[in-house]
Amino acid sequence: MPETKQSSPAGSLKITDTRTGKNYEIPIENESIRAMDLRQIKVKDDDFGLLAYDPAFMNTASCKSKITYIDGDKGILLYRGYPIAQLAEKCSYLQVAYLILFGEMPTKSELEEWTEHVRLHTYVHENVKRLMEGFRYDAHPMGIFVSTLAALSTFYPEARKVLDPEVRQKQIWRLIGKVPTIAAFAYRHSLGMPYVYPDNDLSYTENFLSMMYRVAEAKYKPNPILTKALEVLYILHADHEQNCSANTMRSIGSSQSDPYCSAAGAAAALYGPLHGGANEQVLRMLDEIGTKDNVPAFIKECKEGKGRLMGFGHRVYKNYDPRAKIIKEMAYQVFEVTGKDPKLEIALELERIALQDDYFVKRKLYPNVDFYSGLIYKAMRFPVEMFPVLFAIPRMSGWLAQWQEMLTDSEQKIARPRQLYLGSQHRELK
Ligand code: ACO
Repeated sequence: MPETKQSSPAGSLKITDTRTGKNYEIPIENESIRAMDLRQIKVKDDDFGLLAYDPAFMNTASCKSKITYIDGDKGILLYRGYPIAQLAEKCSYLQVAYLILFGEMPTKSELEEWTEHVRLHTYVHENVKRLMEGFRYDAHPMGIFVSTLAALSTFYPEARKVLDPEVRQKQIWRLIGKVPTIAAFAYRHSLGMPYVYPDNDLSYTENFLSMMYRVAEAKYKPNPILTKALEVLYILHADHEQNCSANTMRSIGSSQSDPYCSAAGAAAALYGPLHGGANEQVLRMLDEIGTKDNVPAFIKECKEGKGRLMGFGHRVYKNYDPRAKIIKEMAYQVFEVTGKDPKLEIALELERIALQDDYFVKRKLYPNVDFYSGLIYKAMRFPVEMFPVLFAIPRMSGWLAQWQEMLTDSEQKIARPRQLYLGSQHRELK
């Protein structure tokens, strides 16, 4: 059995309410207090009790989880206890997805079975294809992706039985299997090119590249270095504990909505430029900067609050994002195949200046996973609009793992935060 994180010695927090002079003792467990324990703190018996105010969940643990561990100060990221660098070096994405979803590395036969199940679910219903055809030629692929995920709910109505583990299992195979197909169809749609059906002789990532780029060749053979790069990018993006989209997946799923609708919501959250849309924004920013000489002026503008250095900063990492380190190395291998992107020079200069600038140092702003991923995607000929979709494909395993963990956690209920009402008191219409 792997060692699990030990809870810290039990202790308690003594609170004195200066309004009443009353003392309270609140247990500390796992280095936290239960927010509900604050509710006993009241001025009058019929008071609601004390609330914890935490906009944007800056200091609120919304669940107990055994999936992903991050130490933001030390720059550590573990999936089920395994360091991200080891997983990226030694595993395939489907192995890591299995690990994230089921808690252990698959044995050889478990991996074969898992791969077969995913492979059997790569095709989409022809009506899904027709639905996608209805989008305008210039529709953003992430909009198509989000809508198509939600539409899948109508094809698999049994998915509503979210409390049935067998039903959940099937939807997991379907979602992991179908997301590359939907993503590639969204891309082909934007080009007006015929959709390429899955080639199930290929690996998960090879098949995706085939659906994206195959034209008239009998068999698409992607470059192994590019396939490996995509595999690594998928592993790095598979989960990241309670981020905005995972929290959305859990929140929608907590009402027992089916996993397609929940995943559509999670993908919508990922779309935003402060989350999974950031890699798209990094490329736009590099375009806007134009040349290396313009970097100091751009940094100055960021410091004046006129814009953000996209791909920099993170709510949790206050150190170099460990995924960014792996991606940066990977970028050089990719560029050996594809040729160096001139934007790399601008990115390196931005990083160099920002890492020694007081503004960024003081605020602990380091490159995050998105700073270099966009450059790799671009070198691999993915259009900028596809970047958030490329993030969403592997993140599906994380969303589903978070969703399943939430549904099987007896302490969880429908997610429903409180508010501090500061509006008008009762008044009468005249
Ligand atoms: N460029 C310039 N200044 C920044 C940046 C940035 N990228 N990020 C944060 N800051 C500054 C803020 O202006 C603020 O300064 P202040 O204290 O003087 O007001 C301080 O650093 C703290 O910033 P917050 O916005 O409070 O930090 P928060 O934890 O809420 O935000 C976030 C984290 C959203 C990632 C932010 O750093 C950001 O917007 N980065 C750029 C977008 C990005 O790369 N997102 C991808 C995140 S990784 C992912 O989702 C996969």
